[in-house]
Amino acid sequence: MTGDIRKVGVVGAGQMGSGIAHVCALAGYDVVLHDLSGERLNSSLATIHGNMNRQVSSGKITDADREAALNRIATSADVDGLSDADLVIEAATENEAIKREIFGTLAPVLKPEAILATNTSSLSITRLASASNRPERFIGIHFMNPVPVMELVEVIRGIATDEATFGAAKAFVTRLGKTIVVAEDFPGFIVNRILLPMINEAIYTLHEGVGTVEAIDTAMRLGAHHPMGPLQLADFIGLDTCLSIMQVLYEGLADSKYRPCPLLVKYVEAGWVGRKAGRGFYDYRGETPLPTR
Ligand SMILES: NC(=O)c1ccc[n+]([C@@H]2O[C@H](COP(=O)([O-])OP(=O)(O)OC[C@H]3O[C@@H](n4cnc5c(N)ncnc54)[C@H](O)[C@@H]3O)[C@@H](O)[C@H]2O)c1
Repeated sequence: MTGDIRKVGVVGAGQMGSGIAHVCALAGYDVVLHDLSGERLNSSLATIHGNMNRQVSSGKITDADREAALNRIATSADVDGLSDADLVIEAATENEAIKREIFGTLAPVLKPEAILATNTSSLSITRLASASNRPERFIGIHFMNPVPVMELVEVIRGIATDEATFGAAKAFVTRLGKTIVVAEDFPGFIVNRILLPMINEAIYTLHEGVGTVEAIDTAMRLGAHHPMGPLQLADFIGLDTCLSIMQVLYEGLADSKYRPCPLLVKYVEAGWVGRKAGRGFYDYRGETPLPTR
């Protein structure tokens, strides 16, 4: 089946869509990157170029690999550009209404046999599949951020996903050089189900005054050998994203142990959503990040 995937469409040219286009092109797939915003498409291409340059400098890929991969990426501000894709990966904003609308728009455009995948971090694959015209050829392919660096991809079947689609998705991810973990379609899948409650607990630990930002991050880096402290990691993921995943766990699993920490809510309400906003548990506006509490 996977021999049939030659062209990959990516919907959404944000941080994840750019990374997905990057790894697909390096693996030899033709890529069409689609976003509503032409500006996003341009900045995505610049990001991909810059990240591939870094891989050339560190000896991970050659100049020729980079040139060939960049030549395989086309952009399209129009959804019609995806009409000959064999696999389309939706990596647009984490908002169910937006994703549903995208699946509706794609329905008349895609080839009937094309596979439709979503990179959602938290929404139900079965529910999203039901908003598409092909639930049996719909699947979750959940990449980690930053995509070119992280080794893992979670593959999640919806209730209607057929075996051929599952097989094709696994072969596709393997060709990207990533390791697959198969997760069932429950809130947060595996990685976020475990990671986000840990981050939320770190925020409670701060909220209750058990430790300072620095103490908590140092404790987990040196005491548990985590490469990044949980508060630093939360800032990297984005506190808005962390909150939205905790809400999905809380509501989807109906268990009070997943309630988002009020301090996390407060940071999001302040607009201090982490590195992308210049401020979260650390202030990134100076030369070195400084704790904000
Ligand atoms: N950020 C992470 O760490 C991470 C990790 C894994 C998965 N994800 C998931 O990946 C998806 C994208 O996340 P991101 O961090 O790249 O977000 P982002 O905000 O960086 O990018 C989203 C992009 O989608 C585009 N978009 C919005 N509506 C669109 C539409 N109707 N048609 C086409 N493009 C549209 C936006 O213009 C934007 O460029 C989300 O579902 C998110 O949950 C994120």
